[in-house]
Amino acid sequence: MIQQQIKDAIRDIPDFPKPGIVFKDITPILKDPSLCDSIVDAFVAGLKDTRVDAIAGVESRGFLFGLTLATRLGVPFIPVRKAGKLPHTVMQKVYELEYGTATIELHTDAFKPGDHILIHDDLLATGGTVTAASELIQDMGGKVAGFTFVVGLGFLNGLEKIRPISNNVMVLAS
Ligand code: PRP
Ligand code: ADE
Repeated sequence: MIQQQIKDAIRDIPDFPKPGIVFKDITPILKDPSLCDSIVDAFVAGLKDTRVDAIAGVESRGFLFGLTLATRLGVPFIPVRKAGKLPHTVMQKVYELEYGTATIELHTDAFKPGDHILIHDDLLATGGTVTAASELIQDMGGKVAGFTFVVGLGFLNGLEKIRPISNNVMVLAS
């Protein structure tokens, strides 16, 4: 079962990047092409009844499955990047992470007003990152079609934070 395969593959790294944080290292998943395929298959199956006009993937680990998923769905991929990386006109949001603060940016012409944008990231922790991405998308006239994550850290209550934005949330392993 995919949930167990993901859990077995993820490596826990204590005290990274700061003391007290148990970092969920997904790189072993990336070494298993069959598991990567299964992850994208699971997202595609779960999204069959969802209107998705584009996938927004959050730098950097949200790019890994985000582009593959967008390509499989035949929709554009939109990179949500950390501050100072996108070259064209941007809008930005500052947000809190489990281990600090960060700023994300989107190109102002990333999608059309009214488009339904699915937000993808590798991991849901506090939900701060995807909440900031949602706010950016909504500020730019987009609708949040839902969220997909490979893994969720239940104890940080990210689901409670993001469900009011969209109840369409897929977490493959938690
Ligand atoms: C990690 C992860 C998510 C975010 C989750 O990214 O990939 O984007 O944290 O945390 P949250 O739910 O508390 O917001 P990070 O900012 O460490 O960057 P990276 O993907 O470049 O490693
Ligand atoms: N992003 C936020 N918290 C994380 C954690 N504990 N492991 C991996 N990525 C994270």
